[in-house]
Amino acid sequence: MNVIFVALLAVAGQATPDIVLADFEGADYGAWIAEGKAFGAGPARGTLPGQMPVSGFRGKGLVNSFAGGDRTTGTLTSPEFPIERAFISFLVGGGGHPGKTELRLLVEGKVVRTATGPNTQPGGSEELAPAYWDVGPWRGKSARIVVVDEATGGWGHINADHIVQTNAKPVIPGPAQRELALDKRYLLFPVRTGSPARQRVTVSVEGVQVREFDIELDDKPGWYAHLDMTPWKGKKVTLAANKLAPGSKALELVVSSETIWEEEKVYREALRNQAHFSPRRGWTNDPNGMVYANGEYHLYFQHNPYGWNWGNMHWGHAVSTDLVRWREEPIALYQRSLNDMAFSGSAVVDRDNTSGWKKGDNDLLVLAYTSTGRGECVAWSNDRGRTWTEHDGNPVVRHKGRDPRLLWHAPTRQWVMAVYDEEEGKQWIVFHTSPDLKKWTKRSRIEGFFECPDMFELPVEGRPGERKWVLTAASSEYMVGSFDGSAFRPETPKLQGHRGKGFYAAQTFTNDPKGRVIQVGWMQAPSPGMAFNQAMSAPLELSLRQTADGPRLAWKLVDEWAGLRKSTATLGGQTLAAGQTRTHSIPGSGPVEARFELACRGKARAVFSIRGVPLAYDGGKGELDVAGHKVAVPAREGKVELVVVTDRTLVEVFADGGLVYAPRPFIAKAGAETVGVGAEGGQVEVKSMTIHSLGSIWPGK
Ligand code: FRU
Repeated sequence: MNVIFVALLAVAGQATPDIVLADFEGADYGAWIAEGKAFGAGPARGTLPGQMPVSGFRGKGLVNSFAGGDRTTGTLTSPEFPIERAFISFLVGGGGHPGKTELRLLVEGKVVRTATGPNTQPGGSEELAPAYWDVGPWRGKSARIVVVDEATGGWGHINADHIVQTNAKPVIPGPAQRELALDKRYLLFPVRTGSPARQRVTVSVEGVQVREFDIELDDKPGWYAHLDMTPWKGKKVTLAANKLAPGSKALELVVSSETIWEEEKVYREALRNQAHFSPRRGWTNDPNGMVYANGEYHLYFQHNPYGWNWGNMHWGHAVSTDLVRWREEPIALYQRSLNDMAFSGSAVVDRDNTSGWKKGDNDLLVLAYTSTGRGECVAWSNDRGRTWTEHDGNPVVRHKGRDPRLLWHAPTRQWVMAVYDEEEGKQWIVFHTSPDLKKWTKRSRIEGFFECPDMFELPVEGRPGERKWVLTAASSEYMVGSFDGSAFRPETPKLQGHRGKGFYAAQTFTNDPKGRVIQVGWMQAPSPGMAFNQAMSAPLELSLRQTADGPRLAWKLVDEWAGLRKSTATLGGQTLAAGQTRTHSIPGSGPVEARFELACRGKARAVFSIRGVPLAYDGGKGELDVAGHKVAVPAREGKVELVVVTDRTLVEVFADGGLVYAPRPFIAKAGAETVGVGAEGGQVEVKSMTIHSLGSIWPGK
């Protein structure tokens, strides 16, 4: 049967089927022979320990000679095979050292073709790319492939996969360029989230490269990313993509435009939160540089302007006069290149001009951020945080760390940088101090916190005159203690911070005019199908509450939040029997703030419906269930008070007077207009129920 079928195909002039020589999907190399240490005992399953992420291979396994790191050497030799097609195609990556990291084709014992990976310099990429050899001249002859790793230094390894004999000439993506006159403000780039070929794009003006980024350029775009070209308006630009498929129109689709793509639809998208910040386009993660100055709150944020996923780290920027309504401003810090991204950091007002950078009447702002290529860098702004000038002595701290947190320590009149560090292979927060934000001296360190440190001082509620320092980091775990300007001395063990999920890398504003400590965290809340992704939490005022266990952090919505309330329904004063509900309807899909004061009799459960978010309180267990995530919430004097905020991709619950803050990503059900509570398994006394329908934080909405 099979023979006849193949024969028929041949008669019909169909392509001869490809012959897969190796796909490296097995637990071992099969008939291939590995010698030396570099290739390990069998194919790698993707990235090996200590390696940058490996991508671009087929299936689960590949040849990866990074076993034991770059130091190891070896060869991997195929069994002998006859050449039966015109081409051998394969995927190759890793080191670009001819003769030392390469694939070799041997015909009758002689090397006739070779190929290497692309990398010879630090940086680079572990992505495998398609390549092929024309083997027509040796049809019918016997051949072998040898993968060679004889290099021991940087990029001393080679990756390969999916080796195939074929008659169809492989189409290899390659560099492409386009010139265009910049007559408008923005360049719009066609993007399709998930497009298989990520491009490295460079933008050059008059021969000088001004921008570099990775982007999922695609002929069938789902959306367009914008690049603000204001400084170069009127000039000619050259766009270059590194590996466009032949015939791709993606570069032709780039347009110059005065507005961003579908500007009129921004903030009206189905999954756009209406009470929580997110960027107009692209990705955000950590909040950065949070500071109040010149009558405005600044929220900078980790930002990929060109994609839905993490990458290309820039500092996006938004401002607010009331902490809740945000206006997005142009990008504050661009990545200089893919090897010099702008990672997280913080900002302060240099009131006494200790740095000497002040000009004019505005508050002088200074920020510190991690340049992935250089170290901790500082920059300053005299124009209300819109544009930033890099200190020419950057980097100011060089170490194995990131995420500098600046603060002014008034008693010792010095600047403090609390920064994450991985010295000695451990996780530390290291404290450096400086008189002028430029010269820094390392003072002390404390082990056990991971990335994005933050530190602030708070009064202890109910203990007049008593103030304590709180040291926290990305997970929101914290310690309470003292700080003398050089060293933090904990007085508690590490305590649990928020009780939810997907709240990360929070930071507090410096210089709040009322002296409050106000925190915003990154909500890891995806918005699938949108041209933007992730969000920020509500602005949260922190306090230190004296409890039986000692001082503990408490969270509440800032007072300004009340300004979002559009209409309020006050219900309650009713005892619900099992099976009974008390509900209120809020048309539309806008955000809701619902406040409940309840008493569950015996083992009764209070089951809430708030825009379809499954939420329940189990009176018997003293446990709150936030969309499947369980949180202990004790009743106090038989009563439970809950504040629930729902928006389109997230929910935030405050309980136990704020000692419990449980945020959680959750996509609210469209069309769920009911807000209310019901009783299950017993009686629930609804002492009060106040439902606020919230307006939008977005300009003009
Ligand atoms: C935390 C983090 C930081 C880093 C930034 C990069 O989410 O990994 O440590 O500076 O994100 O975007």
